[in-house]
Amino acid sequence: MPSVFLTRRYTFSSAHRLHSDALSAEENARLYGKCNNAHGHGHNYAVEVTVTGAVDPRTGFCCDLPALDAAVKRSVLDRFDHNDLNALPEFARLVPTGESIARLIWDKLKAEGIPLDSVRLQETRDNFFEYRGER
Ligand code: NI
Repeated sequence: MPSVFLTRRYTFSSAHRLHSDALSAEENARLYGKCNNAHGHGHNYAVEVTVTGAVDPRTGFCCDLPALDAAVKRSVLDRFDHNDLNALPEFARLVPTGESIARLIWDKLKAEGIPLDSVRLQETRDNFFEYRGER
């Protein structure tokens, strides 16, 4: 069955601080630099969610778009937007790096039954992270 890939982009703004309890203060400062500053900082994130599936001949769609939008809103945007990621229980034992955020978004949308191909997170103009599950 031929598949189509559809990518939809969403944006949210969040604060975070990169700090690992598994590292010394010196290691945290060396590794994370200014991102380890005590009071955190913010990013305007963009997340590109790619789904895949066969085209439904009745609708012409490969994915239920309203269902996708609702899942992203409920699981990601309503929780992350204008929030401090470090204060969320999801990140209680997880450093909120781009890697961690991308994977967490994948896990949340998978749990909602979204037929994911990949989750790509843009953190800054120059930094992108992509998670494709366990392949
Ligand atoms: Ni940052």
